Amino acid sequence: MTSYKELGLVNTREMFAKAVAGGYAIPAFNFNTLEQMQAIVQAAVETKSPVIMQVSKGARNYANGTILRYMAQGAVEYAKELGCENPQIVLHLDHGDTFELCKDCIDNGFSSVMIDGSSLPYEENIALTKKVVEYAHKFDVTVEAELGVLAGVEDEVASEVSHYTKPEEVVDFSTRSGCDSLAISIGTSHGAYKFTPEQCTRDPKTGKLVPPPLAFDILHEIEKRLPGFPIVLHGSSSVPQDEVDTINAHGGKLPDAVGIPEEQLREASKSAVCKINIDSDSRLAMTAAIRKHFDEKPGDFDPRQYLKPARENMKKMYIHKIVEVLGSNNKL
Ligand code: G3H
Ligand code: 13P
Ligand code: ZN
Repeated sequence: MTSYKELGLVNTREMFAKAVAGGYAIPAFNFNTLEQMQAIVQAAVETKSPVIMQVSKGARNYANGTILRYMAQGAVEYAKELGCENPQIVLHLDHGDTFELCKDCIDNGFSSVMIDGSSLPYEENIALTKKVVEYAHKFDVTVEAELGVLAGVEDEVASEVSHYTKPEEVVDFSTRSGCDSLAISIGTSHGAYKFTPEQCTRDPKTGKLVPPPLAFDILHEIEKRLPGFPIVLHGSSSVPQDEVDTINAHGGKLPDAVGIPEEQLREASKSAVCKINIDSDSRLAMTAAIRKHFDEKPGDFDPRQYLKPARENMKKMYIHKIVEVLGSNNKL
């Protein structure tokens, strides 16, 4: 058993309470590689922001869970080396799908886990979440649950609505499961294609796709029923058009990629939404910089030559999110 406390990590409890009270959101950035980890830490330290570094099941398979755990420990030490006296870094399991996976992470230094029972029938979601909460809380690890299903781009608009979190269920769900935070579905979704072109309108001036707005009425109803309770938004990449354009200009093929407009995330950050998940934007920033580099310097083959600009581009994006969208800067 390795406690996250030995690694210098923190859980989300105090962080979320401050974020809800202060009207800002904590960035939750997924990481799989050294460069992402370095860029996340540099951005958090430079902006004096708390940060959640999250690891999916796929990241554990790709990079190895043990290595990622030591990278998170390294992140704390690196932040100190960069001059941050009291780094507030969470190591979080993103989309845990079984009790066993959550337990394994809790036993191995994670300070927060998500148990995603959102695809299960309601009562089964509560039972599984409760089981994880009972185990996690013994070790002061916090637990994120999910209620409502994030829309897939293949869904029809009509069926997406029925997947939104039902406000009338949130009090019963959070009370009976004991979860510390709740991911809700109000129209965000994972990946770089969050909406089909048919679900969007086109801006007549630019010709760019404009997605339908998030369901703020549902968010506000949830806040009313669960005052002060930490709410999480998944699928919150904005899919920056300049990165998509760079990728496409240098041999990539991302037609009609579309994300969540930043003004809407800015608005959500001021509410009880206190954790905003961003993964795709990091992938786009990395890929754009690497494609551009290879196109301009075809003779380069030392990975440091193209990973350095990729790291810089991700760092720029992380800083932008922290300062301009989530408002978590100057909170340490
Ligand atoms: O929610 C999904 C995250 O973007 C993680 O994606 O499972 O491909 O690592 P992944
Ligand atoms: P994006 O694909 O929008 O970055 O969402 C990431 C996420 O929700 C991770 O859990
Ligand atoms: Zn997610």
